[in-house]
Amino acid sequence: RIVAVIMVGGPTKGTRFRPLSFNVPKPLIPLAGQPMVHHPISACRRIPNLTQIYLIGFYEEREFALYVSAISNELRVPVRYLREDRPHGSAGGLYNFRDYIMDENPSHIFLLNCDVCCSFPLPEMLDAHKGYGGMGTLLVIKVSAESANQFGELVADPQTNELLHYTEKPETFVSDLINCGVYIFTPDIFRAIQDSFTQRKDRANLRRVSSFEALQSATKVLPADYLRLDQDILSPLAGKKVLYTYETRDFWEQIKTPGMSLKCSGLFLAQFHHTSPHLLAESKGSRSATIIGDVYIHPSAKVHPTAKIGPNVSISANARIGAGARLVSCIILDDVDIKEHAMVIHSIVGWRSSIGKWSRVQGGGDYNTKLGITILGESVAVDDEVVVIDSIILPNKTLTVRVQEEIIL
Ligand code: GDD
Repeated sequence: RIVAVIMVGGPTKGTRFRPLSFNVPKPLIPLAGQPMVHHPISACRRIPNLTQIYLIGFYEEREFALYVSAISNELRVPVRYLREDRPHGSAGGLYNFRDYIMDENPSHIFLLNCDVCCSFPLPEMLDAHKGYGGMGTLLVIKVSAESANQFGELVADPQTNELLHYTEKPETFVSDLINCGVYIFTPDIFRAIQDSFTQRKDRANLRRVSSFEALQSATKVLPADYLRLDQDILSPLAGKKVLYTYETRDFWEQIKTPGMSLKCSGLFLAQFHHTSPHLLAESKGSRSATIIGDVYIHPSAKVHPTAKIGPNVSISANARIGAGARLVSCIILDDVDIKEHAMVIHSIVGWRSSIGKWSRVQGGGDYNTKLGITILGESVAVDDEVVVIDSIILPNKTLTVRVQEEIIL
């Protein structure tokens, strides 16, 4: 029996996702037409003998209630949201709910960050993990040396794949092999977390004897029940023959900004060719819109047959796309109205927004910079013939004149 746990974090973590995270928690923002967290969840379908999926986070329970019941029915595997009263860190959060998880009596526990985009090669990781015989196996990937310091950098034994050394976001370069935020563990992980808590308590007690101030500063930085998987568990256990690595040669990205969510939406759409081809739109002659490349269109959306859509476009429920409209590399959220001959390129258009005739909403397409895409928050109205370029527009604004490289509050 196998259990999967997906760490979804909480409201304080989603600030870079404003203004989209005003409406929904970051893990529920649609990428490729499905909530972000749906992608790791649906990858869990390939795990043999999966009995339960838990989402652990500190968002309000009601924010996940609808999604969790819908997806449980769809997958026929129970999916349950477990709420922390406050952040306990990635290892602390997992440990908090050990009784629920161990209730299933699992032989293995998958642990996935919700904000990564990859092919989630979970069955392959499971096989590799069984072969290594350790307590845990991390999915890892080679990235460019310049970008590696945004992640956990690690060294693995090229023969045995054992994790030899691990440093979280180091200041000086260690390795271009990084932690993908996807793990498989045996239940022994709970003992390792428990040991780490005990060691921390012992250290704090020692400090109390030597210096009251040191104790104060230590507790200020980390509450006693806050424990991070990377720094507090992986680092100290590296080189102890309990952790191993499984390297993916597929795609992998981290989704920390709206720009990256647009890029990852495209990667997930491309992945649908292998996993869910029925979700990809097709041109069906002159009675339907022209589709270019990978496109998702919700069945309730109305797209005019003369519109031209794609590549990398996803259109959510009840959106209306007018005659002659052109959409390239964008995410159109629920109930958006795009009028005749409007263009939307490298942009995310928020719920219930409207874009007037012959207007143009465009980003530069550099997904790594803040204004590299244009984002319209909820219920933004762009008048006819208005151009909006490289800008972020907060909810409920009406734009009547050209906007460029601006954040409209
Ligand atoms: N439930 C809960 N409670 N979830 C949490 C908490 C918490 O207190 N803290 C973080 N998370 C969730 C986040 O939502 C995210 O899905 C995951 O745990 C990891 O978040 P962070 O601990 O903030 O780390 P990170 O995303 O900056 O980096 C981690 O992931 C990278 C891969 O994306 C590290 O493990 C890196 O080494 C790794 O490269």
